[in-house]
Amino acid sequence: MNIEPRTLNTEHRISGHIPVRSPEFGVSFLGFELSPGVNYNLRVTDEFASPIDASTRICAVYGFPVKHSASPAMQNAGIAALGLNWRYIAGEVAPENLRTAIEGAKAMRFVGLNLTVPHKLVAVDFVDAFDDSVKMWGAVNTIRIEGRDKSGAWLPIHQFAEVPPDKIRAQGFNTDAEAITRSLREDLGIELAGARVLLLGAGGAGRVAALKLASENVGELFLVNRTHSKASAVAAEIRRRHLNVKIQVGYPRGEVDLCINATSIGLSPNDPLPVDNKQFSLRQAHAVYDMIYRPAETQFLQTAKAGGSRIANGLGMLLYQGAKALEIWSGQPAPIAIMREALVKEVYRPN
Ligand code: ATR
Repeated sequence: MNIEPRTLNTEHRISGHIPVRSPEFGVSFLGFELSPGVNYNLRVTDEFASPIDASTRICAVYGFPVKHSASPAMQNAGIAALGLNWRYIAGEVAPENLRTAIEGAKAMRFVGLNLTVPHKLVAVDFVDAFDDSVKMWGAVNTIRIEGRDKSGAWLPIHQFAEVPPDKIRAQGFNTDAEAITRSLREDLGIELAGARVLLLGAGGAGRVAALKLASENVGELFLVNRTHSKASAVAAEIRRRHLNVKIQVGYPRGEVDLCINATSIGLSPNDPLPVDNKQFSLRQAHAVYDMIYRPAETQFLQTAKAGGSRIANGLGMLLYQGAKALEIWSGQPAPIAIMREALVKEVYRPN
């Protein structure tokens, strides 16, 4: 089945193309401005979506800013393919309104929420329950709205079509960390256990990637960051939590199985490489991953490809964090191919 996403609404005040990296870890994107004006570019696979009616339920991504988020295009394609009478929108929610906006989603019985920059850390205080993934990563990027039934069980709110729940809560999840390793495995075919990995960047995305790689028992992890102290702090955290992983701050000698760019270098066309050529050649890396996915091939990836490395960009991270969120809300396997196709069309469409 070949689904062709169509633009339903004309696009108002789309504010140009901005480079984007990582699955809504770092720089955030696009969307739907609830106030003061309407500013949306909701794209859905309309030929398969049920019409909006009184039973239509809403999912949303909250960010600030939220313009350029590709999540509505990706999620509406997935929702339509699953035959759900839901729509996914983007809300520009200022940080001081986040608590109210989450409470509003509960009151309106939204199916669920995604959160992007700058809401992921602070939202930990605004949800009523946590999945283990939030305890592990200390951040919330997905919320499921749940209702309590007569027996006291908490169920997804969309299951309460007839009898209303006794009580409603927001449960927080984190689908970002898992998406990193899923993308590395599926897009690069990497076997992480025992691998030698060079990770560039120790900011928010770099720290989560380092911890997640350590939890997957990589053999050796080398951390490099412009600000040395941040890489040292992440290395110290890993030494405390993952005793088996050999971790060093600095470039490796010899070959590595994988080199990852988790810095923001490469978002601008004239950026230098995020790696110091004198200390490490990308030819030493069998596989190279850039969390930046727009442009699709940064100079970093082009250089790696020219040197013979396998390459992939961070689009898979965005895809898999969103696919997992849809699974958490719907209880069904996400239609990955359809979501990927919609995402690619949205992210790489000409301005
Ligand atoms: P995110 O949450 O998206 O990871 P971040 O926490 O601001 O964003 O991290 C950005 C990363 O890119 C950091 O590793 C940063 O290095 P510093 O920790 O030294 O700031 C790195 N970075 C950004 N601009 C850079 C530059 N011009 N040169 C080298 N590294 C840079």
